[in-house]
Amino acid sequence: MKNKGTNIKRWIEQDGQIFLKEIGIEKGQTVLDFGCGEGHYTIPAAKVVGGKGKVYALDKDRNELEKLKKLIQQGKIKNIEVINEDSKVPLKDNSVDVVLCYDVIHYEKNRKIIYGEVYRLLKPTGFLSVYPKHHKEDSPLMELAERELNDVKKEIEECGFYLQDKFLKELLHDDYYNKGYVLNLRKRI
Ligand SMILES: C[S@@+](CC[C@H](N)C(=O)[O-])C[C@H]1O[C@@H](n2cnc3c(N)ncnc32)[C@H](O)[C@@H]1O
Repeated sequence: MKNKGTNIKRWIEQDGQIFLKEIGIEKGQTVLDFGCGEGHYTIPAAKVVGGKGKVYALDKDRNELEKLKKLIQQGKIKNIEVINEDSKVPLKDNSVDVVLCYDVIHYEKNRKIIYGEVYRLLKPTGFLSVYPKHHKEDSPLMELAERELNDVKKEIEECGFYLQDKFLKELLHDDYYNKGYVLNLRKRI
């Protein structure tokens, strides 16, 4: 796509940080970017949480993580830790302020395992932010085409969460900007 590089640059350097602050990420927090890919959300998150914060970037795909590692080196970024795992997260219970799960859940048949891990990891004050791509109200329609956004919300709520916020925002998908729904959920305790 023609604007590919420009979109990603603009997102990482500016719009991504604005977006992540708007959805509730703050300086000093610990964030897990679950299914981080090459880090379109990881890098802005690292900038938002700053030197006293930390971002764990987890993905099962080694190739994606190699791309992210290059960007980390180029940017001399010190507060990102890359984790190559599939679904299981090697972090302690109640240790994370925010989990991002962006454009990931459509890959997974057994999503309850992931939501269970997220529940375990989140601090009681923390939240899970999900960008469910390819559901009925979204475009392009793909793996979640038969599911409505409300089905996604119910599925996560059944795993011990409640919906706190629903945003309709412009955000980066792959290498282009699009409008999408983002759900923020907290743990029911
Ligand atoms: C479409 S990419 C989205 C990347 C990034 N979150 C973004 O929005 O730009 C989805 C990523 O999730 C990863 N992924 C999917 N299921 C996963 C799982 N169970 N454990 C770890 N990574 C997973 C894939 O390898 C892929 O890199």
